[in-house]
Amino acid sequence: MKNLKIKFSSASVSFILDGKFASIDKFADKANAIYITDDHVYALHEKKFKGKKTIVIPAGEEHKQQSTVDFIIEALLNFGATRSSILVGVGGGVVTDMVGYVGGIYMRGVAVGFVPTTILAMVDASIGGKNGIDVGVYKNMVGLIRQPSFLLYDVEFLTTLPQHQWENGFAEIIKHAAIKDAKMMAELNAHDLAYYQKNTKALKALIEKNVQIKVKVVQKDEFEKGDRKLLNFGHTLGHAIENEHALLHGHAISIGMVYAAKISQVLQGFKDTGLLVDTLKKYGLPTTMHFDIEHTMEVMQKDKKKSAAGMQYVLLNKIGKAVYETVPMKSLQKLIKLYS
Ligand SMILES: NC(=O)c1ccc[n+]([C@@H]2O[C@H](COP(=O)([O-])OP(=O)(O)OC[C@H]3O[C@@H](n4cnc5c(N)ncnc54)[C@H](O)[C@@H]3O)[C@@H](O)[C@H]2O)c1
Ligand SMILES: [Zn+2]
Repeated sequence: MKNLKIKFSSASVSFILDGKFASIDKFADKANAIYITDDHVYALHEKKFKGKKTIVIPAGEEHKQQSTVDFIIEALLNFGATRSSILVGVGGGVVTDMVGYVGGIYMRGVAVGFVPTTILAMVDASIGGKNGIDVGVYKNMVGLIRQPSFLLYDVEFLTTLPQHQWENGFAEIIKHAAIKDAKMMAELNAHDLAYYQKNTKALKALIEKNVQIKVKVVQKDEFEKGDRKLLNFGHTLGHAIENEHALLHGHAISIGMVYAAKISQVLQGFKDTGLLVDTLKKYGLPTTMHFDIEHTMEVMQKDKKKSAAGMQYVLLNKIGKAVYETVPMKSLQKLIKLYS
């Protein structure tokens, strides 16, 4: 077991990499711990929760809403949760985002721990202290930035993860490689998804590398003034087509990354679109799609990254080196058209 203490400006967080859920009492003492998970994870891993105070919420982004927060708070009151309680979120990003938020507001704040059970939550969503809920169709509109006390990684949970959720998580892993780590991109390109699904040792090492990347970016910029924005690579166009076409997040940002790479060819002299596309394909990710450009531009304009001068776009200078540039809307539309 590897226990890394990571210092963020607001708190210090234990990362228990290569952990075992069976030993969680060491990190969340039994008397005070209350577990919160979703009904998919609970159904598949029920035995693990035996003897634990557990709140089960309905799975899915559509439940990342205030009504579920109210449900959790009521259940906490029924369990007699106090300020000394520790809430342990076991699940994907929906669970960790919501548990982080409830932990921040229940009795003005109680301790929180996470056991991420999707690749996406392991390498992205559960790291960095951002949490919250959607308001109707508006994503992540309410929430706070507050770090958990610990994160425990147990890859055994991944044995039940559906294939498309693996693809979803690997889209963020490839994103990390694109913006921060050329060596990791080469490694990813040399293998494929099946390799990591079969090879637990390689998977654990890859997850750990991605934890380090996300941690480093957040440490530098916990409150999203600069570097943290680079994590939005592929997400500007990605979000727009994700909502319009009901795509899986990872599939949408995969296409978003390909466009961002092509735009980077023109604006940054980027030369490795081929490598990025080839790598995405190895992880079952789509790299092209037909969409209505005018309409997508309109959706993008509503995005919070737009300023008067244009859209703040994350581009690649080379693999491993991302920059952001304000691109006027007109040029952006031209470039997207050019590559469609
Ligand atoms: N806070 C952040 O910085 C941050 C960053 C990225 C994403 N997010 C948020 O994360 C959420 C997406 O996370 P996600 O992709 O993990 O979604 P999710 O929590 O909805 O999980 C995806 C699906 O997998 C199921 N699942 C989870 N673990 C499983 C397992 N081990 N076996 C079988 N099924 C399992 C879930 O029940 C769900 O159906 C979004 O709400 C997004 O806004 C937050
Ligand atoms: Zn994402």
